Amino acid sequence: MLLLALESSCDETAAAVVRDGQQVLSNLIASQVDLHAVYGGVVPELASRRHLEVINPLVDEALSVAGVEQPDLEGVVVTRGPGLVGALLVGVSFAKAYAYALNIPLLGVHHIEGHIQAIQLERKVEYPFLAVAVSGGHTHLFRVDGIGQYRLLGRTVDDAAGEAFDKVAKMLGLGYPGGPVIDKLAAQGDDGGIVFPRPMLKKKNLDFSFSGMKTAVLNHLQRLESDPNEKEIRQVSCAFQTAVIDVLTQKAMRACESEGLNRIVVAGGVACNSGLRKKFAALALSSGIEAFFPSPLLCADNAAMLAVAGDFYLSKGLSSGLDLNAVSNWPLDQVTCHQ
Ligand code: KG4
Ligand code: ZN
Repeated sequence: MLLLALESSCDETAAAVVRDGQQVLSNLIASQVDLHAVYGGVVPELASRRHLEVINPLVDEALSVAGVEQPDLEGVVVTRGPGLVGALLVGVSFAKAYAYALNIPLLGVHHIEGHIQAIQLERKVEYPFLAVAVSGGHTHLFRVDGIGQYRLLGRTVDDAAGEAFDKVAKMLGLGYPGGPVIDKLAAQGDDGGIVFPRPMLKKKNLDFSFSGMKTAVLNHLQRLESDPNEKEIRQVSCAFQTAVIDVLTQKAMRACESEGLNRIVVAGGVACNSGLRKKFAALALSSGIEAFFPSPLLCADNAAMLAVAGDFYLSKGLSSGLDLNAVSNWPLDQVTCHQ
């Protein structure tokens, strides 16, 4: 099937054209980072307004880059949730109108299902595998037995990993989004001997907590006599990132062990983190587990990622009605039908 895919759950408007859930003909992202950076985080109302402004020309461009005309399209898939409801509604409303006008099927897809299945656009990963879904809103471990088959093994009990990166970056005056800049500073490998706590690591379950780590960073900064200098910022960034990577990788390895899994897929914006990728790759090598990461464009929010599951469901005849609504809070393990 030739699908138009649309994503507008947060601060990126994205449109893609994908053939058969495999071949990405275009994958465009209109980022709003500059718009929100001055506020130190995403302002939901501004995000919705910007989505409205750019979605139409972005879709035209996605078709043009793909060399496709509207009548060639065989379906529209769109992020239904979770995310900012006003932002989601722009994509969902646009997708409904587009599918109705072209008289083609419509399907609402779960954002995290998109992230987890994105890897399949680059290389085929056999099921079952462990998905480590790490983004601005999620830090979840799932056993994945196929498209639509997710069992939650563990999750953060407070902040998501990406949220913690963003908040720590804010404390350090590094701007928004925080992940990429902390990643860069941490890559220099100088933690100055600082050790932040690894919350929940001693607990047997597979849950995470990042808010305590964030508070530990705040306490550390408050103990300094003045604002942190460049070296201190670099050291705190490195020590914080090392702590995040430690808990993510150790709990993931435990999950593989208890589920008897030998494949790990790391997905979502935080999966761009170079330290996390390195550590997972090294652990995998030493334990006989295969670790997979989508390329950075497919880790961050994008629309092509929705087409893997979208194509699968639509090909089975499952689709959403024109009463499709956005859902801001939608647990992935409750994805059973697609209306
Ligand atoms: O998946 P995503 O693009 O959007 C959500 O669905 O939330 O993830 C965004 C998150 C942000 O918190 C951002 O700081 C983080 O991913 N991120 C990173 C890196 N690049 C993006 N975190 C750590 N290291 C990175 N290189
Ligand atoms: Zn995302």
